[in-house]
Amino acid sequence: MEHATQFELHLADRMSRLGTETAFEVLNRARQLEREGKEIVHLEIGEPDFATPSNIVEAAVDALHKGWTHYGPSAGLPELRQTIADYVSRTRGVPVKSDEVVVVPGGKPIIFFSILSLIDPGDEVIYPNPGFPIYESMINYVGGRAVPIQLREERDFGLNVDELASLITDRTKLIIINSPQNPTGGVLSRKDIEGIADAVADRNIFVLADEIYSRLLFEGEHFSIMSVPGFKDRTILLDGFSKTYAMTGWRMGYGVMRPDLAAHVTRLMTNSNSCTASFTQVAGVEALRGDQSSVTAMCAEFKKRRDAFVAGLNKIQGFSCRMPKGAFYTFPNVKKTGVPSKKLATALLEEAGVACLSGTAFGEFGEGYLRFSVANSLENLDKALYRINDWTHKNL
Ligand SMILES: Cc1ncc(COP(=O)(O)O)c(C=O)c1O
Repeated sequence: MEHATQFELHLADRMSRLGTETAFEVLNRARQLEREGKEIVHLEIGEPDFATPSNIVEAAVDALHKGWTHYGPSAGLPELRQTIADYVSRTRGVPVKSDEVVVVPGGKPIIFFSILSLIDPGDEVIYPNPGFPIYESMINYVGGRAVPIQLREERDFGLNVDELASLITDRTKLIIINSPQNPTGGVLSRKDIEGIADAVADRNIFVLADEIYSRLLFEGEHFSIMSVPGFKDRTILLDGFSKTYAMTGWRMGYGVMRPDLAAHVTRLMTNSNSCTASFTQVAGVEALRGDQSSVTAMCAEFKKRRDAFVAGLNKIQGFSCRMPKGAFYTFPNVKKTGVPSKKLATALLEEAGVACLSGTAFGEFGEGYLRFSVANSLENLDKALYRINDWTHKNL
């Protein structure tokens, strides 16, 4: 970014190691094309297209009127921390106390704060690739050594436990797992999770379990490594409100971890955000305790769209797509098109009016794939399929 000044900008070295989330850049480009009069189908951004359920909105409005407009405790309002502790105890089958919960603005800060609190330069962190790009960005930012574990299509984008075991060294400090997964929609089975636990065994390694999509699961039961005997003290559970309750713009998530680590993550909150917005936290209590039918309905709708979109993708020349088991993404293999992923994603946006992400936005092992979000109407998904099909006929 050019800025006319006689003073040169001397950034800290670490800024050169900071990555990004391409979804926001593609969204900006798509919006620019729209301003130029093009019509774009948005399948790039990872957020539900549903409104936040009205009981949650009303709880926030009521909280505003009642004066929940001031600073609160850095770790979160006691009532919300207790509600989250109860919810996690119930859903993960392990007793959790409120002092093990830290409420933060979105799920993302838990990635940042865990890595900031645990990783020294040279420490190794194993993370999924393709995977959420913020993991790699944060590991590199703090000077850690980013060790990717490849998620393979032939394993339905699960993780090969033997491969994971072979990556663990004396310097491994943290392993990041994410299920259901962004960008592949892959889900780690109970057997996979138990295999990961066996591979870690009694080593002093933390596991950051990113379970932000835990309620967006199309088959089977969600299983957390936190539930494996002996792992509660070594697990940092990341979950939140963004995806489950269509609350991406509210910025509220949480981490669950042993209380001594929670105290340090809370210090990072004091130093950065002071606290998560108080009235949103009051609404968070309603989200977890109130009617859950909107979550069930949203998940059923995503499943319907997933089925239709995957079927459509599999009819397109050069595309083949596995059935994702969770989250709201599809991750088709496009190797047979012969076009590199980034080039293909750009062409689909610029020439076909379909915004999607290159698999490489999620790491080097994403080459040969595209990510499409199905958080859009069936009508728009159909339109996207038609346009992609038309583009391939004209260009391949
Ligand atoms: C795997 C994963 N983890 C964390 C997040 C961050 O969620 P939030 O918007 O609550 O910060 C996302 C958002 O896309 C995600 O896909």
